[in-house]
Amino acid sequence: MTLSIRRAKATDLPVILALLEGSGMYTTSVTLAGDVTYLLAESGGEVIGVLGLEHGQGASLLRSFTLRPDVRGRGWSSALLDHAYALLRERGDQLVYLFSADGGEFWRHQGYRPVPPHELAAALPGTPQVRSAVEVGWLTDSLAWRWSLA
Ligand SMILES: CC(C)(COP(=O)(O)OP(=O)(O)OC[C@H]1O[C@@H](n2cnc3c(N)ncnc32)[C@H](O)[C@@H]1OP(=O)(O)O)[C@@H](O)C(=O)NCCC(=O)NCCS
Repeated sequence: MTLSIRRAKATDLPVILALLEGSGMYTTSVTLAGDVTYLLAESGGEVIGVLGLEHGQGASLLRSFTLRPDVRGRGWSSALLDHAYALLRERGDQLVYLFSADGGEFWRHQGYRPVPPHELAAALPGTPQVRSAVEVGWLTDSLAWRWSLA
């Protein structure tokens, strides 16, 4: 089975939400409107993975990253991450931030380091997920991570 990666279109929102729900992930504030890029991974004619990027100035927020359970463990997560990082370098970003829903072991393994959530919020104040965190009130209790693209 081969993997291909493409940018999502507005009409892909339902399939993105279904994938995230299938992985037990939050869908609050997921939007394809504004300065965001969602990447879709496809195999066998089906969408089997998603990775969202919400852009700021010199930095972007990575979110909503999942592969369908039956295609995990094949190295495809690295292909999706590498595609995202190439795109972020092209736009001139230096830093990638994200919130982890769990303890973040996957992200630590990827080279990310924990940062105070308020650093993330200050770096990317206009992004949908940060705005939601502030409005709903979970920012202070969140776990935030940073990785340098340099
Ligand atoms: C996160 C996710 C996309 C990774 O895809 P995957 O196919 O399971 O990942 P892979 O098996 O290709 O593993 C990639 C690397 O991460 C490591 N890894 C995988 N899960 C890990 C974990 N829980 N903790 C630490 N390292 C982990 C693997 O050992 C591998 O390391 P290597 O490149 O040094 O060999 C997938 O597990 C998933 O959809 N999980 C549910 C949603 C989620 O947690 N998303 C992330 C938060 S937004």
